[in-house]
Amino acid sequence: MSLGHGTLDLREDPDGTLSVQVTRQDTYPVNIGPGELDTLPALTEQLGLADSLFVITDTNVADVLLQRTVDLFRDRGMRVQPIVVPAGEASKSWPVLQSVIDALLTRGVQRRSALVALGGGVIVDAVGFVASVVMRGLPYINVPTSLVAQLDAAIGGKTGIDYNGSKNLLGGFYHPAAVLIDPELLRTLPAREIRGGLAEAVKVGILHPPLFTKLENLSSGSPPDIEALAAVTSDAARYKMHLLKDDPFERSLVRLLNLGHSFGHALEAATRFEVYRHGEAIAVGIALATMMSRHRGMCAAETTDRILACLRRCGLGVTMPPSLMTATWEEIDVIRRIRNGVLNEVLPVSVGECVVVDEVSHDEFVSAAGALAGPGTAAAPRATAGRQ
Ligand SMILES: NC(=O)c1ccc[n+]([C@@H]2O[C@H](COP(=O)([O-])OP(=O)(O)OC[C@H]3O[C@@H](n4cnc5c(N)ncnc54)[C@H](O)[C@@H]3O)[C@@H](O)[C@H]2O)c1
Ligand SMILES: [Zn+2]
Repeated sequence: MSLGHGTLDLREDPDGTLSVQVTRQDTYPVNIGPGELDTLPALTEQLGLADSLFVITDTNVADVLLQRTVDLFRDRGMRVQPIVVPAGEASKSWPVLQSVIDALLTRGVQRRSALVALGGGVIVDAVGFVASVVMRGLPYINVPTSLVAQLDAAIGGKTGIDYNGSKNLLGGFYHPAAVLIDPELLRTLPAREIRGGLAEAVKVGILHPPLFTKLENLSSGSPPDIEALAAVTSDAARYKMHLLKDDPFERSLVRLLNLGHSFGHALEAATRFEVYRHGEAIAVGIALATMMSRHRGMCAAETTDRILACLRRCGLGVTMPPSLMTATWEEIDVIRRIRNGVLNEVLPVSVGECVVVDEVSHDEFVSAAGALAGPGTAAAPRATAGRQ
């Protein structure tokens, strides 16, 4: 296992121009399974990271998991220093980042230190960011505790904080030294957070039929079926990696994993990020994209019904309140402007296939939202059928 190892090649062209070619290689384990948290101290030793350890978590996760985590290390004769930040998206911010860095410096962080991110996507994103900038990069281990973090945020190496009102504006790619996914940790996660995570799983499932089938068969309600969620996480995490293979730094704007995200993000923004959890908005976004695809004649009524039924089975709403239509479309315009005038919306064709289309019209948006709000969901194709 190696982290941040690399090579540097220097070439001098006949005209005297120097070219530098740097390659960085990160290799790390992603361990998924019930009880994995118990292996954390041994894993830090194996990775040579046990000298000076900081566990960074939020107040909610601290309540349910911090003592247990500290005890696991203590039982092995090891010490970890906890740093706790307030729970919530507001912690993905410059002031909180600074407070974490100050706490690390006050408590003697060194180049040999390692960080453990114990929490949801907020903690994972923020700790990855801190790790990437302190002393030009400290190793960190992701121990995701929310479903969103387990199946999405903790893998892929994306770090970030929100800045100046923009989500994830600051950040970069900085991979962890290990990812330890313990589905048992989801037992204390509020049901609404589970549903939010399932929306991201449905998104991946629409691209990957075996996962979709698992989601269709998920038993709803509480307590959550941890075994089923573990299988969902394992599939979603693996397939996300598969999709990132050709574009690990996500340079392309044409990304299938954006399914439901332009509309969903616009809905979140239209409600100032105060009404919908991210996954709830993404569920509406997926439903809109599916209905638009149906209206274009690109996907069959059975596919539309299947996707909408799966979202509902996961406890997710699929309708957009009429009062939010105008504000949401305005936010879609903002997204389009940020992307230099092209929306690049992902539309499902079938379970297992999606296509990226350049644009969707306001009329299509209104019709899709109307059809989702109406009594019959899989409305007939409209005149725009077949356009891409
Ligand atoms: N880096 C990426 O690739 C990526 C991918 C998806 C999402 N994200 C980011 O992740 C964030 C959303 O993640 P999230 O939904 O996990 O939010 P979150 O971290 O705020 O967690 C949701 C809530 O659940 C609580 N919680 C977490 N684990 C718990 C547990 N085991 N028991 C009880 N409570 C628990 C948290 O305290 C919080 O209140 C967003 O900021 C998003 O931008 C990043
Ligand atoms: Zn998302």
